[in-house]
Amino acid sequence: MTAKRDGRFITFEGIDGAGKSTQIEALAAFLAERGQPVVRTREPGGTELGERLRELLLHEPMHFETEAMLMFAARREHLAVRIHPALQAGDWVVSDRFSDATYAYQVGGRGLDARRFDALESWVHPGFQPDLTLLFDLPPELAAARVAASGNHPDRFEREQSAFFTRVRNAYLERASRFPARICVIDAQQAPDAIRAQIRRIVSERWFR
Ligand code: TYD
Repeated sequence: MTAKRDGRFITFEGIDGAGKSTQIEALAAFLAERGQPVVRTREPGGTELGERLRELLLHEPMHFETEAMLMFAARREHLAVRIHPALQAGDWVVSDRFSDATYAYQVGGRGLDARRFDALESWVHPGFQPDLTLLFDLPPELAAARVAASGNHPDRFEREQSAFFTRVRNAYLERASRFPARICVIDAQQAPDAIRAQIRRIVSERWFR
């Protein structure tokens, strides 16, 4: 399952409340200004089936290994139906989360055996990773305050305690130190304008010099 990689695949990661959404929009607009066709998507979700799985994942209690497998089931569909075809067509794909989230939330947060993660990842996307991952990092207390201020009804993950998000954050950072060429850590405590400028810089240095 090797895809021809004409387009670029960029993912956004971070604990809930890190402020990814506005920056995803800003990056998509920046790429469009540069004349790149952009597909914006998210996980879990991104396909009709994936969005149905998302509903279950966000709201239905389940065993933590079921959760991990459903994340990867949704991802398998997402790769087949949207991500690979878009990249092959030369589009840039910008996704709100991908497999690093499963590592952080299911392995780090829930305690899934990392070997189970490796097995699922190498089944679902052997040899395939994002070209660039922007990891929004901030202390869980600040992120929780942002989630609370949003006024949205919290989902199954957002209702977790701060110890859970500390584990998720640490797992993300561990992954970033393992893949430093791919994963850029963004200090999400900065003002939105500063974050936007930093992301533009990172993307420009890689691809628009
Ligand atoms: P997200 O879309 O960022 O949430 P929201 O729409 O509330 O901003 O992600 C949904 C939740 O799913 C988030 O709490 C993280 C979790 N998640 C996992 O636990 N594992 C995964 O593999 C993915 C993709 C998401």
